[in-house]
Amino acid sequence: MESAKILVVDDEKLLRWSLEQNLSKEGYSVITAEKGLEGLELFSAEQPDIVLLDVQLPDISGLNVLENIKKENSNTIVIMVTAFGDIQTAVKTIKFGAYDFVEKPFNMEKLKILISKALETVTLRKEVSQFRDKISKQYGFSNIIGTSEQMIKIMDVARKVAKSDATTILLQGESGTGKDLIAKAIHYESSRATKPFMDINCTALPETLIESELFGFEKGAFTDAKQMKKGLFELADGGTIFLDEIGDMKLSTQAKLLKVIENKTFKRIGGIRDVTVELRIIASTNKNLAEEVKKENFREDLYYRLKVIPILLPPLRDRMDDIPLLAKFFIEEFNRDFKKSTKGLTKDTEKSFLGYPWPGNVRELRNVIERAMILENEEYILPEHLPVEFATPDTIRAAVTQAHITLPPCGLDIEEVEKELIRQALELTKWNQTKAARLLNLTRDALRYRMQKFGYLQEKA
Ligand SMILES: Nc1ncnc2c1ncn2[C@@H]1O[C@H](COP(=O)(O)OP(=O)(O)O)[C@@H](O)[C@H]1O
Ligand SMILES: [Mg+2]
Repeated sequence: MESAKILVVDDEKLLRWSLEQNLSKEGYSVITAEKGLEGLELFSAEQPDIVLLDVQLPDISGLNVLENIKKENSNTIVIMVTAFGDIQTAVKTIKFGAYDFVEKPFNMEKLKILISKALETVTLRKEVSQFRDKISKQYGFSNIIGTSEQMIKIMDVARKVAKSDATTILLQGESGTGKDLIAKAIHYESSRATKPFMDINCTALPETLIESELFGFEKGAFTDAKQMKKGLFELADGGTIFLDEIGDMKLSTQAKLLKVIENKTFKRIGGIRDVTVELRIIASTNKNLAEEVKKENFREDLYYRLKVIPILLPPLRDRMDDIPLLAKFFIEEFNRDFKKSTKGLTKDTEKSFLGYPWPGNVRELRNVIERAMILENEEYILPEHLPVEFATPDTIRAAVTQAHITLPPCGLDIEEVEKELIRQALELTKWNQTKAARLLNLTRDALRYRMQKFGYLQEKA
């Protein structure tokens, strides 16, 4: 941080001059003030990284200046300059948030080292706070798109839950509806944001591993346990545990999880001591947990414990109003990522989006847009950029109108038109008969009959 800004507040003219000379040579930009109030004004205007502050000033006390600086920006490094022997005041300033103090007359070389160390701290603090801002921008509610009635209600509940003390939340919804997204937003917009968010996929963890991962183990608990290891519950203390796909958790582990939720304590494997944790548990599932309870695959008591705050994410097909805005959001995202300048969907593309059932929900929408933007380089995403599943009779009719198929005055042979369209469908689908048939709204048999008739079957064989 070469161009760091240092503010010197001291009533001794010679000292100000000498600091300005010496520190400028080091590449710092130095500003100076003689009095406390002037110093505070300069501080607000210039936002320096470091302040060298005399304890004894002609107008207000250095301590008073220190307090005001800390109030305005608690990240600022303030180094106090004290009179020789006034160790008591110096110690007091540390309590008020000063970084360190130097006694007059001071050794310039030592001061320079102190400043450069302090600057490392400033850089680190800045990086940490920028990192936090970035994370919360990346994962916060502002990244969740949706203006449908359902989504507005969900976001309202999620925001309230984030700010509340509620510790268990159950997110249910089909795959791709945004469960991960909501879980992260709840964490990063809560007072737990600076504590860990532990994402545990219950499907991916084998049963034999899940308990040692969650609870940790003591040294000697089993042959390989050469050293004590903390589990995820312990590491996440104060934060959030996200149990993704909890419907896949084995019944035996479910029982142990319930105990942790109820008692807030557990024992490491092989341990006798209780470990106490304070956690928020967000569980998610794409299964219907009530059904799983009926089938005895899921513990009823755990289900009710988790369900205290249930959030049900509707499938995308039940909130089609969100599609245009989501599409815009993803197009902007991929424009940034791929350095493209795609402007949007055409009316026809939007129409086929609105007529599609989206079994993969928002994830599928994102993938379709990503694919179109990787493969194509047009200003707008056109219906022909979409996977073949999107060809519905409606979009086909739209395409016919759009292609301005009009009967020429001399008439034409409709069989030739049919033959030509079948040829195009086959080329477009790389001779995949199932896909070509769908494009033409024909059954596969009907397509094969026509292919035979027009001699396309032999051609390909
Ligand atoms: N409402 C939404 N706004 C923006 N992006 C969304 C929304 N819902 C889902 N997504 C995106 O869709 C993808 C799947 O979401 P995810 O949270 O992983 O779903 P789930 O966990 O329910 O399977 C992710 O890329 C996510 O960012
Ligand atoms: Mg998920």
